[in-house]
Amino acid sequence: MCGIIGYAGHRPAVPVVMEGLRRLEYRGYDSSGVAWLRQGEMHVVRAVGKLGALEERLARAEGVVTPVCAMGHTRWATHGAPAERNAHPHCSNDRSLSLVHNGIIENYQELKADLAARGHVFHSDTDTEVLVNLIAEHRKTESDLLHAFAAALRQARGAYAVCLMSVDEPGVLYAARMSAPLIFGLGTGEHFVASDIPAFLPYTRQVVFLEDGDMVRVSAKEYSILRLEDMQPAQRGVETIQWDMQAAQKGGYRHFMLKEIFEQPRVVADGLSGRVDAQGGSVLLHELDALPVPRRLHIVACGTSWHSGLWGRHLLEHWARVPVQVEIASEFRYRESLLLDKDDMVLAISQSGETADTLAALRMAREKGATTLGLCNVVGSSIAREAAAVLYTQAGPEISVASTKAMCSQMLMLALMALYWGGRQGVLPAEEVRRNTEILKGIPDVLAGALPAMHARARELSRAYAGARNFFYLGRGHCHPLALEGALKLKELSYIHAEGYAAGEMKHGPIALIDPSFPTFVLALNDALLPKVVSNMVEVQARQGKTLVLAHEGTAVGGDDLWTIPFLPSPLAGFVVLPALQLFSYEMADYLGKDVDQPRNLAKSVTVE
Ligand code: M6R
Repeated sequence: MCGIIGYAGHRPAVPVVMEGLRRLEYRGYDSSGVAWLRQGEMHVVRAVGKLGALEERLARAEGVVTPVCAMGHTRWATHGAPAERNAHPHCSNDRSLSLVHNGIIENYQELKADLAARGHVFHSDTDTEVLVNLIAEHRKTESDLLHAFAAALRQARGAYAVCLMSVDEPGVLYAARMSAPLIFGLGTGEHFVASDIPAFLPYTRQVVFLEDGDMVRVSAKEYSILRLEDMQPAQRGVETIQWDMQAAQKGGYRHFMLKEIFEQPRVVADGLSGRVDAQGGSVLLHELDALPVPRRLHIVACGTSWHSGLWGRHLLEHWARVPVQVEIASEFRYRESLLLDKDDMVLAISQSGETADTLAALRMAREKGATTLGLCNVVGSSIAREAAAVLYTQAGPEISVASTKAMCSQMLMLALMALYWGGRQGVLPAEEVRRNTEILKGIPDVLAGALPAMHARARELSRAYAGARNFFYLGRGHCHPLALEGALKLKELSYIHAEGYAAGEMKHGPIALIDPSFPTFVLALNDALLPKVVSNMVEVQARQGKTLVLAHEGTAVGGDDLWTIPFLPSPLAGFVVLPALQLFSYEMADYLGKDVDQPRNLAKSVTVE
């Protein structure tokens, strides 16, 4: 997820763009850059790292103050490591065009090969450099730049929000969107395009929310919006934004955590993009094609990522028939695991890719000769670089310290891995792969439809249970790791003591703690284990324990407080259970007045032992 901004107006454009980038930095900050025109030449300044590095470079650049048209980019790497050569803007070979891009062009390899055959030379690993050269190629034959831009975009498959500048048209910007956000801002004698409204909110509150397939041509005084498919004008209403800046930076949500919970439908949709073949009968994980199907898989991780691993084990063993060990990285690294040998694979799961214990466990596995695989969110992170292969979760930057959408994206990739290896080994019929990929494809809509009501119910229930100082979370099978995650979220956000337990284990000791002041959150989904879970719930109730029960709509399970969610078949039902648990903890912490986004004593990336 990157941030882009373009400006055409009467103010010095580069400072306006830099200010906008500052407000978009939450979208990514591994590198950044700006472009402007001066004396008929394209000027581009880029730097690796946070925006401060770009500011330092700009302070030494000439002619920064005079231009009244410029564009900028802050990057969250997808194609290519964070490096200056991969930072945006990217220029066409003849430097007549410059482009910033948020998104992924899925067919960029084939476009690149075709352009290379026509003599184009590439200096980066990005899909963006391919796209800008494709526009330049079309410019040779099309009547004007607008048509060349449209012709190139029609060839591109995938997601993009792009902004384009040309040396032939000073003061003009072109922009377009497809499955990536792009907002058009209308000021007085000035216009903006940006990935998010905060980028230009100090200058105008008048916006047009561009739609997929919209293209705009913008100068200081004029603009036109066209449809990519037929180049006909599009009628789009101008809306007035009411938010304050603080709220806008969180996309209108009170906290980053809430925003990130609500991003999960998009996270699943993005994660699936390009991962399932057209017929749905096979999963495409090209990163794994060269690796053998593991004889045995050891998953190493910490915290929420460890819970993802525990959840993934159910799918990997069931669908792919791969034996799985799931280890807490800080334990694994100091234990002499007699099971680990060189024919095994070690999968390190880490949102940040920098967690010290997980990194150390990965290194130990590598020293022992095992094949290593990383499952990371942050591109170019240590685990991603050191593992023999890496799968990226593509959840976008997770700003809240409590991990939410990262777990959802890890679960998705683990499900895809299980389907991929199951299909590749021939142990899971293509029909079963197809049935499950269809369920996965439906999750974004199910979640998007369910989240508002789940949020309202979480609020009600958090108020009802706010007096509790202890909580049990119970689940069986694939719901056991989710129970652990529910308990972790409640602990880290609201500082209420909570324990996740395998429901069947309660009677072996923990049930002694149950009394009327010690409630239990029961995950009672409609699957084969439901009768067992209900029995365990009744055992708690028989000891005067209060029960809050998460169940599927239309399933009679009993309990003191029932919270129903839409049905999805197990184990994929976890994609709806997870946000319910997150929302309950979020609402509890907020109600109790805790610092939701930055809980005490925690850090987003744990780089010490
Ligand atoms: O970046 P990682 O996924 O390696 O981080 C692992 C844990 O530190 C992390 O999941 C932590 O438990 C979160 N605070 C959970 O919300």
